[in-house]
Amino acid sequence: MTTPPTSTRAAVSTHVDTDSACAPLSFEAARHLTDAIRITVSALHVLVHRAYVGKAHLALGYGRWADYVGSEFDGMSRARSYQLLGQHEVIAVLSEAAGTDVSDVVTEKAARDIKHRLDLVATEVAEHSTGLTDRDQVLTVVAEVLNVTRRADADSLNRMPSMAQLRASQGRGTSSDLWYTPRTAVAPLLGILPPPPLRVWAHADVRGRSHIVDVLEEAGYEVVCSDLSTGQDFFSFTRADVEAMEVDVAITNPPYSVRRLWLSHLVDLGIPFAVLVPETGVGEWAFAPLRAAGAEAGMLLLNRRIAYSQRWDAKPLGNPPFSSGWICRGMLPPGQQLVFGEVPASF
Ligand SMILES: C[S@@+](CC[C@H](N)C(=O)[O-])C[C@H]1O[C@@H](n2cnc3c(N)ncnc32)[C@H](O)[C@@H]1O
Repeated sequence: MTTPPTSTRAAVSTHVDTDSACAPLSFEAARHLTDAIRITVSALHVLVHRAYVGKAHLALGYGRWADYVGSEFDGMSRARSYQLLGQHEVIAVLSEAAGTDVSDVVTEKAARDIKHRLDLVATEVAEHSTGLTDRDQVLTVVAEVLNVTRRADADSLNRMPSMAQLRASQGRGTSSDLWYTPRTAVAPLLGILPPPPLRVWAHADVRGRSHIVDVLEEAGYEVVCSDLSTGQDFFSFTRADVEAMEVDVAITNPPYSVRRLWLSHLVDLGIPFAVLVPETGVGEWAFAPLRAAGAEAGMLLLNRRIAYSQRWDAKPLGNPPFSSGWICRGMLPPGQQLVFGEVPASF
């Protein structure tokens, strides 16, 4: 972590009348104070965005945005700063669609919930606010579109595939293919991924049922999901589909029984990728597709065995008899085909 060469922080004071600081507030004073807090809190994304695009971290002598954020803002995580940047982007797009500033109705949580469908939401907002001249009406429309989108997402989560569907979804695989990856296995990946903004295709993952998706989103990455159980067969994706999705990298823990075919198809798609696979016999089953990927192929080697779970959010099962690693293409630093990743005990 880098720290600025000299600290020249200005003395900033938040004036509070100490004589009456503990006295109960009148209705007007409480209203005034509450409004001031709301304005300050809701302006945070504007300030963080300004600092980000203006590279405030470099101006203050920090090498990395994460160091600047963590040090200047009392431990604010990089992920939190990216959530605020995400909120800023959503507000900018929806304000443009609505023809007015909609920041009053787009909370950070709402922005995060709908960001993966931002284009669609913006189209809805534009359609429903056309012709409205009253700003309050436009804000009501935006709030409603956000609510409907979030409710629809929640409903589809509640309609999660049944076990039978999930088993059937293994496509060319078998029922023993359904293993959930723990958060700890995803942590080392954050060490090799380029910093956000980056659009990740979690290509065998269901949102709400994948720690891969959770960890990447928490770290500020934009994640697009697809899975056979939600109707998308990975093997039916073509290069053109992948280009149209505008994803930068593909990441997942693929079904074990079709790992060889999976890897070949990924290489054919031409996208950079990282897939979590058992190392057992890797030289055998991954040999041909990896050789086809040439110097871009590589491996993120893990120092601990990964235990998976067969039920969502259940404890991972016992001591796995095999090691796992992330097979990559186009993800490791140039000239490196082997990178060492430490799996944290908890994450
Ligand atoms: C080993 S599980 C991994 C689940 C999740 N990615 C994780 O890491 O926790 C394999 C996943 O691949 C999905 N799957 C199996 N065959 C598939 C196919 N042909 N296309 C897309 N997804 C498939 C299954 O539905 C399952 O979600």
